[in-house]
Amino acid sequence: MATYRKSSRLGNSFGQSDFRNGNIGRKIWGNIFIKDGIKMDSRKEVVLTSKEAMQTVLTNEAAFGRDTSGMFGDRVMHKNLGIATSEGEVWEKTRNWTFRTLREFGFGKSLDMEHFIQIASESLFADIDLKIGNGKNSGIIDVELLFNTPILSIIWQMVTGRLALEDKPDIQILSEKGDGFVKSGIFGAGIVNAFPVLRFIFPKALGYDVQMDYFNTCNKVGGNLFRETQSRLKSSPLASQPTNLLEAFVQNSSTDPKIFNCENFQIMFQDLLLGSTDTSSSYLEAALLFLVANPEVQEKIYHEILEVAPNGRFLNFSDRKSMPYTQAFFLETHRKARILQNSVPRRALRDFQYKEYTIKKDTVIMCDTRLYFEDKERWGDPELFRPDRFIGENGELVNASSIISFSFGKRNCPGELHANIVAFLLLTSLLQRYKLSVEETPRLDMRPGMTLKPYPFKAMFTRR
Ligand code: HEM
Repeated sequence: MATYRKSSRLGNSFGQSDFRNGNIGRKIWGNIFIKDGIKMDSRKEVVLTSKEAMQTVLTNEAAFGRDTSGMFGDRVMHKNLGIATSEGEVWEKTRNWTFRTLREFGFGKSLDMEHFIQIASESLFADIDLKIGNGKNSGIIDVELLFNTPILSIIWQMVTGRLALEDKPDIQILSEKGDGFVKSGIFGAGIVNAFPVLRFIFPKALGYDVQMDYFNTCNKVGGNLFRETQSRLKSSPLASQPTNLLEAFVQNSSTDPKIFNCENFQIMFQDLLLGSTDTSSSYLEAALLFLVANPEVQEKIYHEILEVAPNGRFLNFSDRKSMPYTQAFFLETHRKARILQNSVPRRALRDFQYKEYTIKKDTVIMCDTRLYFEDKERWGDPELFRPDRFIGENGELVNASSIISFSFGKRNCPGELHANIVAFLLLTSLLQRYKLSVEETPRLDMRPGMTLKPYPFKAMFTRR
């Protein structure tokens, strides 16, 4: 049985930060680090640091709750709604239905997604070409948030089945407010989590205004989409099966209004935007950082691209099977960037046992994958960016399952395949078109935030 310890650190279950005193946890507690919750809200927190502890605890149904304190709760109007912070029947039904239905409409199926991603990458290249300027072969471009709008437009197409001209203002505003949300940082959110009342006293200084503005904008756009589709289907019911998630959701509202109602759609829509945009965007920014810092890695990937598509055709997700080095690069990017290093906090739904520890009901359960991904015994030279560690003796991909960025069990990340397809297709098509370089290597550590992401840097984009 573990004793709860007083922590020297102000805890923060919001966003991604470094549990630098995690090595205390390692030395004293082995693979689980238990500390007293912050006295102000008398919460208990547990930080899991080994793969075995994460796998065992996170797959236990007693750990399937979420932390809905402070802003997490405000975001969902303190109701049990959506996927990411809901629990019980609402969580299970909304999550299962959403991802099953998205799959029917092409989500995670590479052929359909390739089409959506091609549209998004074309607009990304138009943006880059504009920044390079007419008649020039290369230009220096700020990489920060470069991918946000294309990624947003992919998830928008997955939900609504379209990318119409009339959607552009909504996508634009979601993108702008999303950028503000990401830039608002976690410092304030961490304080709000510890002292919830402060969000009402210093909403501006703590970034709370910007964050709530983003959530409210998502809800407004999601609500409009729901109501427009509802009135369209009322006046002219569908002659055949729905063709996108939005129509399918609205159509179900007459048979199961407990799940298929406007509020639940709004939060599910918000969860999909929040879940996919900042994560994939930070991951791709990190990938670009590692490419410019390691030109030989970029050349090897480009070589594999030329081998599978010598005529410059748009790659398919299935091409990755002939590109082990490129796949190894993506795995190594997960290991080094750890964009969701602390995962998304869970909450114990009841008392449960892990080894000799009793994890009490309502304990907030967090992870620190840094200790695992930087473990010298496991990785040998974890400080180096070395995709070859995932390449076997015969040039095959090995140890892919040692990457645990998408977590474990039934409450793991449901967007893993989607994220992998988007990253592979966007990045390879970018490298087909541009060579990336820097004069001076930017800093390679990640900056804390909603996700971990590179410190802002610029790269030279040269047309191939
Ligand atoms: C590099 C990209 C991504 C990473 C590293 C990542 C990682 C994670 C992690 C660690 C969790 C917490 C899982 C847990 O509690 O055990 C999570 C949850 C979630 N992710 Fe992702 N994710 C990524 C991309 C995406 C995408 C593209 C989507 C949607 C299309 C998405 C949707 C979600 C949702 C809805 C949840 C909440 C699941 C639930 O509570 O049941 N994620 N993600």
